[in-house]
Amino acid sequence: MRIPLIAGNWKMNTTVKEAVKLVRDMLDGLDRIEGVEKVLCPPFVFLAEIGGILKSSSIKLCAQNMHFTTKGAYTGEISPLMLKEWCEFVILGHSERRRYFGESDEIVNKKITAALENRLKPIMCVGEKLEENEAGRTEEIIGRQINQGLNNVQPTRNIVIAYEPVWAIGTGKAASGQQAAATIKFIRNTLAKLWSEDAAQDLRILYGGSVTSNNVAEFISQSEIDGALVGGASLRAEEFVNIVNQTAAIKERSLPAEQSKP
Ligand code: 13P
Repeated sequence: MRIPLIAGNWKMNTTVKEAVKLVRDMLDGLDRIEGVEKVLCPPFVFLAEIGGILKSSSIKLCAQNMHFTTKGAYTGEISPLMLKEWCEFVILGHSERRRYFGESDEIVNKKITAALENRLKPIMCVGEKLEENEAGRTEEIIGRQINQGLNNVQPTRNIVIAYEPVWAIGTGKAASGQQAAATIKFIRNTLAKLWSEDAAQDLRILYGGSVTSNNVAEFISQSEIDGALVGGASLRAEEFVNIVNQTAAIKERSLPAEQSKP
């Protein structure tokens, strides 16, 4: 059984005041939802503050990026050693990092390796650009991102993959549930070849890209899709709680009868 996961990626948004208010506004609603792993990804500088608020709640913290060495002369960077005090997860290889900061598959691979060595769980992002999608190259691009990003990484359940088509991020044009499920199935098949069928079945694969409370059900009702990486909609407390609530209800309904009994 793969436990569904919903992560809210705040990206480079909020002041400390806004961040604290956002967490306080969603805390009670989120905390009481069961059957879904709930993860918040605030900017680095708010991790300690928000970590304090979330202490003794069921909500977990995630960083948005990380350097691949534990310490040294890398001005402005944040190391896995620093993050693991606060976070269980770290987003790696987000398309915005690839696009604006030149992160290659090789760098993503180093980061994934370093995160696992430091007992952080990577949420590894993959996804094709619009022109790649239109040229029918989605599988080629994603196959490369998975194979190179996970090169020499031993099979583990401690990685989460997020399929985020670049054309769906922040555009309001989400993929359809079927489109997303088909690509996620391809990702699972690629993992089965790289690792094994069992290891691929154990791994959670999320969809991300313009997910809101209006369309989350379309994704979550696909058995291939184990949750969502939510951007803009995670900056509104009520909206984010609604997304997690719907996820819990839909995945609970799809459990085999004997497992859904209390
Ligand atoms: P949006 O939900 O704003 O499209 O962002 C998706 C994303 O990039 C999450 O990491």
